Amino acid sequence: MSNEENKRENAATDNSGDSQTKKMKYTEYSLDDWNKRWTDNRIGFHDGVVNPNLEKHFEKMLNGRETITVFLPMCGKTVDIKWLYDKGHTVIGVEFASKPIKDFFDEQGLAYIKEDVKEFNGTLYKSTDGRIKLYNCDFFEFKKNEDVEIDGIFDRAAFVAINRDVRNKYADKIKSLMSAGTQYMLVTMDYDETIHPGPPHFVAEEVIEELYGKECNIKQIDYKDIFQTKPSYASWGLTTMNERVHLINQKESAK
Ligand SMILES: C[S@@+](CC[C@H](N)C(=O)[O-])C[C@H]1O[C@@H](n2cnc3c(N)ncnc32)[C@H](O)[C@@H]1O
Repeated sequence: MSNEENKRENAATDNSGDSQTKKMKYTEYSLDDWNKRWTDNRIGFHDGVVNPNLEKHFEKMLNGRETITVFLPMCGKTVDIKWLYDKGHTVIGVEFASKPIKDFFDEQGLAYIKEDVKEFNGTLYKSTDGRIKLYNCDFFEFKKNEDVEIDGIFDRAAFVAINRDVRNKYADKIKSLMSAGTQYMLVTMDYDETIHPGPPHFVAEEVIEELYGKECNIKQIDYKDIFQTKPSYASWGLTTMNERVHLINQKESAK
């Protein structure tokens, strides 16, 4: 953790006034902090393998369709993009830091074309065939093109990475990208937030219900112990780490 991040963690934990109560820990991140994680190469969140949840539950996202457009919020340089692309799907990603976007194309050996996108205050990096479009901009600036349907959303280490005060804004943006057929796969982490300040942040089930329950069906499709998958969980002082996967789609009444 940098000194700046450390200061914000203390600020978040010192003001409860009750030294007997176990306090929730919480570290806020700015866009600069994320950029710095990439330039300093502190990217323990980046897995060089396809996310097992995406592979295991992809049929549910496909939902009977052959090729789809999948949106990856705050995508980093995840190899999930290439996995989807190799299967013939179209991928749209949004990522604030430019380094992972350039690294993605270089590491995957794919050529790209760059275009300014004034509307989003950013830059589009797209594969020469246009089937991978990675927008280098703030997620909250991104908007769906009217004639593009987003069929699936894969949210790994995105919602759990954002600061608590923008959760509502984040969910509103996701809902604005969804249409009747969109299958939104959301992965959250379940751990003791009095021990680790995040990110990734702990997300209670009630939060998902509050943010999406009115307009969407929410189904838990997986829950598993992932404590052994990364040494960082133990080094953060945790003794358990579980992962929950939700499938979220519009209710009939909202269509
Ligand atoms: C924990 S990483 C996860 C990256 C990727 N989803 C993965 O699974 O490897 C969170 C990412 O969100 C990006 N990010 C954070 N806030 C953002 C924002 N407001 N707009 C776009 N990207 C953002 C960070 O730069 C970082 O790459």
